[in-house]
Amino acid sequence: MTPREAAARRAMDFVREGMTLGLGTGKTASHFIAALGERWSRDPFPLRCVATSRQTYELAAQWRIPLVELNEVERIDLTVDGADEVDPALNLIKGGGGALVREKLVAAASQELIIVCDASKLRPALGAFPLPVAILPFGWRTTLRRLQAFCQHVTLRLSSGPGTPPYTTDDGLYIADMHLQVIRDPGALERSLKCVTGVAEVGLFIAMASRVLVGHEDGHVEEKTRSQTVLQPGGGNAT
Ligand code: A5P
Repeated sequence: MTPREAAARRAMDFVREGMTLGLGTGKTASHFIAALGERWSRDPFPLRCVATSRQTYELAAQWRIPLVELNEVERIDLTVDGADEVDPALNLIKGGGGALVREKLVAAASQELIIVCDASKLRPALGAFPLPVAILPFGWRTTLRRLQAFCQHVTLRLSSGPGTPPYTTDDGLYIADMHLQVIRDPGALERSLKCVTGVAEVGLFIAMASRVLVGHEDGHVEEKTRSQTVLQPGGGNAT
């Protein structure tokens, strides 16, 4: 079992009968969906799930996991998702897989967000992974220029190699990747970027994750909770 799979399977310990679950997107989240699907098909129990992408919806449907739309639920009890980077305050960069808008909507509706990952995602500071920012296709070049005020190196994500059309999200948005290298104040940056005209959502998840399950090579799964973390400037509140 890989470290990511071990972390994803550990998240099953937090699933209870009758829950409304948010299902994340990406390789690690798909391990969780497989674990949930295995348990569900063995012994179905009251459950409903909200997917954070079409890809996740299709995967969960293959397992016959009961799916509902976000609009059909008042709130989500627990969401299990992956991340591209996790800092010591459990702030995150997400959106490497392009699903940041729906991932943030589902996380914002969730009582608890558990992140599953391996140790390669843990960073002393966010920013080495290019920050995904979802932008409107209309006038995208002008939005990219506004984003360059924060960071010179901003690239429009393409569907595949050079010369291919822009990548489009499930909601028809484009993604600008901001190569910041280091983000000193993630909370302040998120607030500023959200005010840029043309920006729909930012792949910074500040103070949203309450727990991070980290799979290690030796098979053990480390559990980090926000109450154990140090308050970072501009980051999430330690609870
Ligand atoms: C999807 O848009 C992302 O936020 C993913 O959750 C993130 O990229 C982690 O994916 P992996 O588990 O595939 O690394």
